Amino acid sequence: MTQYVGAIDQGTTSTRFMVFDHGGNVVARHQLEHEQILPRAGWVEHNPDEIWERTRTVIKSALAGADLTACDLAAVGVTNQRETTIVWNRRTGRPYYNAIVWQDTRTDRIAAELEKTGQGDLIRERAGLPPAPYFSGGKLKWILDYVPGVREDAEQGDALFGTPDSWIIWNLTGGVRGGAHITDPTNASRTMLMDLETLDWDDELLAVFGVPRTMLPRIAPSSNPEGFGTTHPDGPFKGAVKIAGVLGDQQAATVGQVCFRPGEAKNTYGTGNFLMLNTGTEIVRSKHGLLTTVAYRFGDDKPVYALEGSIAVTGSAVQWLRDQLGVISRAEQVETLARQVCDSGGVYFVPAFSGLFAPYWRADARGVIVGLSRYSSNAHIARATLESICYQTRDVVEAMQQDSGVTLDTLRVDGGVTANELAMQIQADFLGVPVSRPVVSETTALGAAYAAGLAVEFWRDTDELVANWDEDKNWQPTMTEERRQRGYARWRKAVSRTLDWVDL
Ligand code: G3P
Repeated sequence: MTQYVGAIDQGTTSTRFMVFDHGGNVVARHQLEHEQILPRAGWVEHNPDEIWERTRTVIKSALAGADLTACDLAAVGVTNQRETTIVWNRRTGRPYYNAIVWQDTRTDRIAAELEKTGQGDLIRERAGLPPAPYFSGGKLKWILDYVPGVREDAEQGDALFGTPDSWIIWNLTGGVRGGAHITDPTNASRTMLMDLETLDWDDELLAVFGVPRTMLPRIAPSSNPEGFGTTHPDGPFKGAVKIAGVLGDQQAATVGQVCFRPGEAKNTYGTGNFLMLNTGTEIVRSKHGLLTTVAYRFGDDKPVYALEGSIAVTGSAVQWLRDQLGVISRAEQVETLARQVCDSGGVYFVPAFSGLFAPYWRADARGVIVGLSRYSSNAHIARATLESICYQTRDVVEAMQQDSGVTLDTLRVDGGVTANELAMQIQADFLGVPVSRPVVSETTALGAAYAAGLAVEFWRDTDELVANWDEDKNWQPTMTEERRQRGYARWRKAVSRTLDWVDL
């Protein structure tokens, strides 16, 4: 039996390739960052060619570093930053424009207009999403409207749209020599263009955004025995490996955290935070500001849905302390600085840099730091930053409990910020429930490997995956209920101060 499964994780700040064994252990890895291009306030772009170059390099380096070849891999999975929008030409392989990243707010007026014309309700009903600049539909419309030649080429079938999974798979499977133009329902469910029930592109939604169907990828099951294509021997694998799994990164983390039963949830702390609750095969429509999304679809099984609380700025607020304010020189130092004080001294920081995502969905919001006094120090601001990560999580947990009726008994966590012990203790305190971190912290890549490995029967069923999950550490709440509620009420007041800042 081939011993391993590979996973490409193309994220917001970096791209990594990892190889896992049957026990879900990491046997090879390599990771490289790419440039964050910030041409104007609110605009965030990536260079698609750089992403593809990074992808090739991390695959080659990880395989070489562990003395592995394509022959050692039973399959490969792909996971990716979602919503980020790329349009390229199928004949030349060249992108027409930089990737417009999920955090980019340039389409805030397009989203506001959809609400004014009443089309917002159609999008909510059909796609499960509130109209917001976050999702791909508006970004794609912007490229079609503003980048010369794209619309004409799209109508002729030469301009292709994709999220980073599609872009990478197209390139891996041969590119201009006939690469596969394909995605999965988890990625497609973030575009505002897919019908959540049929899992197909919806003509009415395409008309709302003026998107020609010819430019859209085929939607195949996330774990796909037929495969998304086979890697081209001239590519970084130097051989043919079946690409058998694709999941958006938050859905991949849900699979990596083995949240296979309705009511199970995970929270990933990355650039932003993404809390996802498995709702089973039932589509639960949120009344409290969460997204309804596809969690995964394995082969011919019915799709499994989720409620998601997406928070735009959490880990990136720590980067902001480092890069913009210069109060720390490395992200990890935020913990030491925040530990210098036992509370935030009344300071609240709401990092609404891209407006507010779940559960507020206010593109007109901008960040605030409130409660400052002459006594406030860098340490208080550092502590308030960690608290903002945890309060934002509480906001989405509250919404999730109201929408689903499920009361959280433990929060399964993963992602970079979970290495911060203070933040995890604050999280348990603010939620009043234990927080649990698994041994394998790379749950996103692991989830993509699981989707691919299930498709080729490297893993027999999800029970085998559940058996691989093991807890590394947990944090128990220690705060009194009275203090918890008082702090949260102040947080909500701070959030109210961010609103109505940008005229839309
Ligand atoms: O929806 C955006 C999300 O997919 C980005 O995740 O981990 O790349 O910041 P991450």
